[in-house]
Amino acid sequence: MRTHWCGELRASDVGKQVTLNGWVHRRRDHGGVIFLDLRDREGLMQVVLHPQEQPEAYKIAEAVRSEYVLGISGAVRARIPGAENPKMATGDVEVAADSIEILARAQTPPFQIEDRVDVKEETRLKYRYIDLRRPEMQRGLKVRHEIIKAIRDFFDGEEFIEIETPMLNKSTPEGARDYLVPSRLQPGNFFALQQSPQLFKQLLMVAGFDRYYQIVRCFRDEDPRADRQPDFTQLDMEVSFAGEAEVRRLTEQMFVQIMKRTLGVDLPAPFPQMTYDEALDTYGSDKPDLRFGLPMVDLTRVFDGTGVQMFQNALSKGGAVKGLRVPTGATFSRKEFEALVAVAKTFGAGGMAWVLYGPDGATGPLAKALSAEEVAGVKQVAGALEGDAVLIVTDALRVAQRSLGEVRLALADKMNLRPALEPTDPESWKFLWVVDAPMVEWNPKENRWDPTHHPFTAPHEADIPLIETDPGAVRSRAYDAVLNGSEVAGGSIRIHDPEMQRKVFGLIGIDQEKAERMFGWFVDAYNFGAPPHGGIAAGVDRIAAMVAGKENIREVMAFPKSSAMTDLMTGAPDIVDHALLEDLHIKVVAPPPE
Ligand code: AMO
Repeated sequence: MRTHWCGELRASDVGKQVTLNGWVHRRRDHGGVIFLDLRDREGLMQVVLHPQEQPEAYKIAEAVRSEYVLGISGAVRARIPGAENPKMATGDVEVAADSIEILARAQTPPFQIEDRVDVKEETRLKYRYIDLRRPEMQRGLKVRHEIIKAIRDFFDGEEFIEIETPMLNKSTPEGARDYLVPSRLQPGNFFALQQSPQLFKQLLMVAGFDRYYQIVRCFRDEDPRADRQPDFTQLDMEVSFAGEAEVRRLTEQMFVQIMKRTLGVDLPAPFPQMTYDEALDTYGSDKPDLRFGLPMVDLTRVFDGTGVQMFQNALSKGGAVKGLRVPTGATFSRKEFEALVAVAKTFGAGGMAWVLYGPDGATGPLAKALSAEEVAGVKQVAGALEGDAVLIVTDALRVAQRSLGEVRLALADKMNLRPALEPTDPESWKFLWVVDAPMVEWNPKENRWDPTHHPFTAPHEADIPLIETDPGAVRSRAYDAVLNGSEVAGGSIRIHDPEMQRKVFGLIGIDQEKAERMFGWFVDAYNFGAPPHGGIAAGVDRIAAMVAGKENIREVMAFPKSSAMTDLMTGAPDIVDHALLEDLHIKVVAPPPE
């Protein structure tokens, strides 16, 4: 039907006879002349109809409303001088229609197809197909397409093979909560939707594919967040006979290609790296945002032998004292500090103290209780100047780090330290590798060691003896790629020795019998010649959102779930027919929600 996209015609096309298809973006009746802005995915074109010049087409145009779908034919001509619209890419030309066909009529849409419309999120999601007509949404999905294309081209060029893995899998007790699918033929049994192709990609290495990748849907039943969806997309890859350096090189080059192709930015590679301990100690996060400073300091030594009860308590239990200098913080009001204390408490700290360094010495609720040496020591270690404040949290090390790390982020927002994104400026993209995360972390609630990444991650060779004596000190061969404070990829070198794999299961409380039942099929494969291997997975939705300049990954997903993890358009999840439940041998005990 069409000869051209609406958005593609320029002055050089004047004189051409064209056919366009699209939606009526706007119709203006100037008493005697009708203007239609016709819209398709590539942009807008002004179509003009005169009652004398095109009487039949004009008549049809009189009946046309917003969002009608049309086919129009006519000649491209230059707009009359003075009527050009420099804001429109096609603003120099218009199409004088000599025929119009109404291909579909439309009711008034629930909201206008404009980028800056004030519409409730629920309405946008309920009428997602209308929301997706907005140019900004189309741009987001095109960016996502370009990213996926760049990824495929890159890995194809590096001799990778894309292989699909099953979605219906065995439930395993690691990571997030599974989405379950009941089996009709095996009553009482369930599949789990894949959380990631982790074990299958490792088996593809055992099978000798050597270099695998996949753009793959993954499913995790987690609490909602701006950067989380229950089904999301990973770039998943794995390589054999390679170590960290090769996986990281490939990942960096993938990001370089993505940024080059989508934004024309030349990213510097290799990316800087930091150990997990360093990241937590300095930024209170395993995914530090390096677009601003505000490093934390360790004040534990300053409070050695302190008389202040709060510090005594924490230090006697092996805790730490972490400090954060707030430049010009002495001007903050008590209320402003209290708001920051609330942030620290939300993230597990019992409280947070602050000291103000003014022209007349130190003030603030804690200042009176501190000795002169402590006041001076805090100032010196934190690098505080007159006019600054220092925030102090004392607690178990990780709690002190993480809670003050969250306060650091809140401060950055409050003080406007995060620079506005300049997408084409390489300085806007702060990539970082965070490496050597501890293999396991103590879970005080469950009283056991949990894997920091997943139980298939290899320990550092030198730390293997510590598995028995000091598990928390064992570093893993893991690496996470962080971009502007967001975890965009995570991976590791894997265990490929069945004995070591069993040992790690044992460490995280999966006894032999359970390991056999859950993972026997997998560990068995290692008895048949498993190559050394490692890999990584990147969050495609997160990357696309960042490249498109969006806060929420929903904005670059065609049909995402709402913040309540429901599909507001289809109404899923929903109750199902009783007969279907019977087939699946399922009895629902909870009444369906209203
Ligand atoms: P991981 O669990 O770190 O690693 O996931 C890899 C990347 O996927 C993205 N991601 C998500 N994106 C949107 N919504 C979610 N709910 C969500 N969860 C994760 C993140 C994350 O960095 N099998 C391992 C990888 C490996 O070891 O090779 C894995 O899945 O950007």
